[in-house]
Amino acid sequence: MSTQKLTPGLAGIPAAESSISFIDGQEGILAYRGHKIEVLAENSTFEETTYLLWNAALPNQAELDAFKKELTACYALPEELLTALRALPKGGHPMAALQAMVAMLGMVSPKCDLKDSAARHQTSLRVLGAMPILIAAFERVRAGKEIIAPDPELSVAGNFLWCLNGEKPDAIEERIMDCALVLHAEHTMNASTFSCRVVASTETDAYTAVSGAVGTLYGPLHGGANERVLHQLETIGGVDNVKSWLDAQVAKKSKVMGIGHSVYKTKDPRAYALQNLARELFDARGTTDLYATALELEKHAAEVFGARGVWPNVDFFSGIVYEKLGIPTDVFTPIFALARTAGWLAHWREQMGDNKLFRPGQIYTGAHDATWVPIEER
Ligand SMILES: CC(C)(COP(=O)(O)OP(=O)(O)OC[C@H]1O[C@@H](n2cnc3c(N)ncnc32)[C@H](O)[C@@H]1OP(=O)(O)O)[C@@H](O)C(=O)NCCC(=O)NCCS
Repeated sequence: MSTQKLTPGLAGIPAAESSISFIDGQEGILAYRGHKIEVLAENSTFEETTYLLWNAALPNQAELDAFKKELTACYALPEELLTALRALPKGGHPMAALQAMVAMLGMVSPKCDLKDSAARHQTSLRVLGAMPILIAAFERVRAGKEIIAPDPELSVAGNFLWCLNGEKPDAIEERIMDCALVLHAEHTMNASTFSCRVVASTETDAYTAVSGAVGTLYGPLHGGANERVLHQLETIGGVDNVKSWLDAQVAKKSKVMGIGHSVYKTKDPRAYALQNLARELFDARGTTDLYATALELEKHAAEVFGARGVWPNVDFFSGIVYEKLGIPTDVFTPIFALARTAGWLAHWREQMGDNKLFRPGQIYTGAHDATWVPIEER
């Protein structure tokens, strides 16, 4: 009988030493490389934030310009990859398509010498540069539309919207998408980041590690919550129904999507930034029933759950913002994946810098000394 105790889900058990990001769940702090998320959301772009995550320092203007040029050069995808994308089953979820396409990107990419930091950097650019185009291209193909070639003049956020809609985004749309990417870029040792590091530790390539992370993010307990927040707001069916709907959820002990967090016991700092973006967007474009319902739900949920340390998380407002930008609901989680690729690759680089194969233990609960019985006697 083992005397070891299991911590289900490895909750709170350190899986690595990392200098990439930091969370204080009691105080509601999230920082990338020491920079608080609200400061980055206000002042930084996704490209600058990615540079920070990968290099542990903010770039100067020349460094940022050079980085953007390198990333832009990776937007264009090989034709054989686009041919494969066109052949994917159209009824599948875009996250499944993304996972397959990132793995396939590895099949058409040069082999990376993992010991060479320049090669690791080039591979990181190739993975990140492809993400917005792959997501947008699958959406267009399944809608029976032509794939749109990326525009090297546009940012990652701008290109995603351009390749998705075939229209150049205006300043507010691009800024909001860019800020959402900054907010979702990194979040310490969550399930998908852990899975990325586990795959990386076998010394496979970044395409396989990020593809594994995309698969891990897909689940409703991780990246899938933003889709479900939107369905929930639609189900509530209007501001006047919020209180009775919430009371019924509490009576049934059902989870309310978009609130609560396993680490934050106060309002998720990213939710403040997204709420500001939502306000800016709805002030500029006019409010909707969904937005009004969300505001009402936030108010009542604070009364019911606030004292238990259960507050809105990042997903509470992200779905409403994406919906207002005209993005299909099942593309919300791929946007999360696009953003988080910056963080996953920072972890891939860190893991490769000082690699040790993951090989956890287990607590065996099965039989010992079982007796073999020939099949005809069972
Ligand atoms: C993320 C989540 C799994 C964390 O759950 P957790 O670790 O149990 O959170 P806590 O320990 O702070 O929960 C404290 C209490 O509030 C309850 N609670 C937490 N989140 C809740 C929610 N969204 N709706 C209703 N009750 C909730 C818990 O069940 C627990 O109740 P108990 O004390 O009676 O057992 C949970 O909040 C959740 O499922 N949220 C909805 C899904 C979501 O938005 N996910 C995205 C996260 S970024």
